[in-house]
Amino acid sequence: MTKTINHFIDLPEIDPEVVKGIMKHAHALKAEKFSPPQVMEGLSLAMVFDKLSTRTRVSFDVAMKQLGGHTIVMSKGEMQIGGAESIESTAKVLSRYVDAIMVRMSDHENMQELAKYAEIPVINGMTNQSHPCQIMADIMTIEEKMETAQGKRIAWFGDYNNVCQSYIDASKIWDFDFVMALPEDLNDNVPKGVNFTNDAKVAAKGADVLVTDTWVSLGQEGKNIDKFWPYQVNAELMALGNDNAIFMHCLPIHEWEEVSEEVAKSPASVIFDEAENRLHAQKAILAWCLKDAGVKLAKPLGF
Ligand code: CP
Ligand code: NVA
Repeated sequence: MTKTINHFIDLPEIDPEVVKGIMKHAHALKAEKFSPPQVMEGLSLAMVFDKLSTRTRVSFDVAMKQLGGHTIVMSKGEMQIGGAESIESTAKVLSRYVDAIMVRMSDHENMQELAKYAEIPVINGMTNQSHPCQIMADIMTIEEKMETAQGKRIAWFGDYNNVCQSYIDASKIWDFDFVMALPEDLNDNVPKGVNFTNDAKVAAKGADVLVTDTWVSLGQEGKNIDKFWPYQVNAELMALGNDNAIFMHCLPIHEWEEVSEEVAKSPASVIFDEAENRLHAQKAILAWCLKDAGVKLAKPLGF
């Protein structure tokens, strides 16, 4: 009998009801943050990074430890995978030592290959294509601030990138209206069926959430940002949003390019709640990943 392995690599690969169940569990775990259930006792998470990280690294580490588990954090440069060893061999070896692998890998196909050979769950800690863990924290934050994401207008400004793609994936699960504002020469990058405009004001009008990310993602250092300035989220754009519109950003901010200092530090900005929610959302992701992997959890997870 083949064992079910719950990889968390891209939202469209998981049943939408399951994703919503993980989200519900994330809220429950946040409510229990001062007495976290010790469901990961005896379990280990390996974390592998081929790019810089503050939030993903620390929040996964703390999440696993607060739930009673262990972690080992490695950068690709310290492992044999950076040299002669194949992804297949690495996946098979790590599967004999730990219970799940969280990976930040530039190349999405390499992560899929790792998951193909791993006998344990693989979690996407961001690739050049997507950042699903970030979006779980973002939706969690939106639900906290406005009860539901469903039916809301979420406006994205600037570049089409990994975080933006995960928003597009999430819009199909939570049924929100997602609109992108980006420079004209990037129109061809917008996936089919996604609503977009080259006029930032059109996107901002009536938005419940104004969200952006750096114009220079990791690995794109030296990129010319001149064309992005009309898409900076500033007070003028925020004023076009709905009353009580919020500002979101996955962080780190490139100060003060994609967002003005005034907006980032305004009461409408929920960026640090969003960062905190990485911790809670990832506890729920870890719990789901390990639920069907033959691991005995200390207590029922509620879905
Ligand atoms: N938002 C996010 O993923 O941050 P890090 O790159 O610091 O992990
Ligand atoms: N788009 C950014 C997100 C960082 C969390 C990047 O890929 O660097």
